[in-house]
Amino acid sequence: MSAASVAVPLPPNEAAPVVRVRRVSLEREGQEVLRDVDLSVERGEILGIVGPNGGGKTSLLRLVLGLERPTAGEVELFGVPVSRFREWRRIAYIPQHATAFDPHFPAIVREVVLLGRVARRGALHWLGAEDREAARRAIELCGLSGLEGRRVGALSGGEKQRVFIAKAIAARPDLLVMDEPTAGVDPESERRFYDLLSELRAELGLTVILVSHDLGVVSARVDRVACLNRTLVYHGPAAALEDKDLLGRLYGAGRVVIAHGADEPPVHGH
Ligand SMILES: Nc1ncnc2c1ncn2[C@@H]1O[C@H](COP(=O)(O)OP(=O)(O)O)[C@@H](O)[C@H]1O
Ligand SMILES: [Mg+2]
Repeated sequence: MSAASVAVPLPPNEAAPVVRVRRVSLEREGQEVLRDVDLSVERGEILGIVGPNGGGKTSLLRLVLGLERPTAGEVELFGVPVSRFREWRRIAYIPQHATAFDPHFPAIVREVVLLGRVARRGALHWLGAEDREAARRAIELCGLSGLEGRRVGALSGGEKQRVFIAKAIAARPDLLVMDEPTAGVDPESERRFYDLLSELRAELGLTVILVSHDLGVVSARVDRVACLNRTLVYHGPAAALEDKDLLGRLYGAGRVVIAHGADEPPVHGH
């Protein structure tokens, strides 16, 4: 990496994929976590990252969010190398276990969603009518109207999850990244969660990356999937995973096969 790439911000290229991961490898303390991963996320796409525990899903998100540096390869956001990317407010991240907090947490729904605007404005700006309107709209979009005055700690798991999504989208991000958002959520809430993602995409043009270890549900509800087990085992249309043979070939016999979906442009010339 050149010295210049640390300091000089680059303007985004709006025609580029939202995320591009090129030949990325990650080693931590001599342990190989990811090897030679290539993937892209197009504007307005919902990408599901699936794979076994320890397969490197959270680590890949950390690289995409610039929280960690790859040992090799490159990550680009909106066409800009992550080290030169500055428009972080375009990206919202809901980490794993975000909803598992103190049930006595005193804030109410409206306040938590407004905090999403603080992140956008910076703490030194007063929140105004525009912020309150954006929070109200986010609450409405997330099906939380009527719950604005309720204590977040007292809500159900599915409702809490929607509060965190409302907080994230109140800042009007272009990309929403979620790590295991449906872990511990009942099936009905999970169904509503995926419905909500489709609505947010239609309404706001949101691009979404979500991580899950439940391949079955994810593949039915996202556009493309990336199956990650240290290497990228499959990256392509989710519908292809309904083919049980393919699944067997992908996960069976410990073989690592990089399969690219037929209608997906090759990301990188291997
Ligand atoms: N903070 C960390 N420090 C060192 N190793 C870690 C850390 N987080 C995860 N790992 C290791 O990195 C590998 C990938 O983990 P992770 O990215 O969390 O996978 P997943 O999210 O798919 O379960 C695992 O072997 C895990 O033990
Ligand atoms: Mg994880």
